[in-house]
Amino acid sequence: DVAAAIVKNAKNVDVLQLGAFEVDCWYRAPYPDEFTSDNRLFVCEFCLKYCKRRKTLVKHKKCCPLTHPPGNEIYRHPAEIEKRTMRGENGEEEREIEEIVRPELSVFEVDGARAATYCQNLCLLAKLFLDHKTLYHDVSQMLFYALCEKGEDEKHRVVGYFSKDKNGSQTGHNLACILTLPPYQRKGYGRFLIAFSYELTKRESWVGTPEKPLSDLGLMSYSAYWGDVISELLKSLEIGTVITLSKISKLTHLATQDVILVLEQAQILKRKSKGDGQQQQQQQGTVTTDATTTTTNANGNDSANVVIGQVV
Ligand code: ACO
Ligand code: ZN
Repeated sequence: DVAAAIVKNAKNVDVLQLGAFEVDCWYRAPYPDEFTSDNRLFVCEFCLKYCKRRKTLVKHKKCCPLTHPPGNEIYRHPAEIEKRTMRGENGEEEREIEEIVRPELSVFEVDGARAATYCQNLCLLAKLFLDHKTLYHDVSQMLFYALCEKGEDEKHRVVGYFSKDKNGSQTGHNLACILTLPPYQRKGYGRFLIAFSYELTKRESWVGTPEKPLSDLGLMSYSAYWGDVISELLKSLEIGTVITLSKISKLTHLATQDVILVLEQAQILKRKSKGDGQQQQQQQGTVTTDATTTTTNANGNDSANVVIGQVV
């Protein structure tokens, strides 16, 4: 049984060829077996169609109709350009050159009900880098937010995405799955996507949280983001201000349980252990908590207060 489980979870694609990148894959993805027998997959960077052979992809690319994800562009950020002076060589004059530090970015909102094949292909691609289950077949209930870099050829290449349940406001989940493709990781795109998911939640006036479980990388990225958002808020408050957890949640649009997690990690809040009649010692940190309400109960009582101390 163990052996069968190992085989079942074994990686089926070693290398993914996506545009100019050859990417080492991390996990098994449920591509049909006939496509993965060479442990190599060729994927169109625009429509995400997968091919077993390079020449099939080359042929496909000649007639691929897409130059961006099949949805509405709902966000655009201009390219960041830096001007540099090039020293003249061999007697040439100095000249100013423009360097693209970051290309133009766009977010496309793709409806799983309208572009099912694209969204299924995106989920399959993501699964190569996600350990836990994602949804592949019924994408009709999901919206996909694809972050793209615009190339010099004016085409938009996906660098990462997140998906969101259309009924998220009922479940409280503002994000189902998030991925930054490995060649683009650690450039701030994951953080951008997380921030974007909260912006959408803010617009709809609800408080959101990502679906669980989070991967290790997901937790690291979320903790960093939550920590920054909360510390920015706390730093903006005057010393002596009393603020409840639910107020922090309301102001940041983070779910209370995530606020508690961050404050506990920073040792600003301490959880009251069962049967512990004594108030626990409050932690002196950059932000201090009110000694009378410093603990939360096992369910994360959101009535605890945080009193703003010295913020450095
Ligand atoms: N090591 C340490 N810290 C990290 C790492 C890492 N490898 N990756 C992200 N972080 C933390 C850092 O604090 C980082 O900030 P910094 O670069 O300023 O130090 C912060 O997260 C944000 O980093 P970004 O560059 O914005 O994130 P990135 O674009 O790399 O995307 C993501 C993060 C989406 C989690 C990416 O690692 C990924 O796609 N992983 C594979 C798929 C995955 O695990 N997705 C999350 C599943 S959970 C869910 O979907 C609900
Ligand atoms: Zn294509």
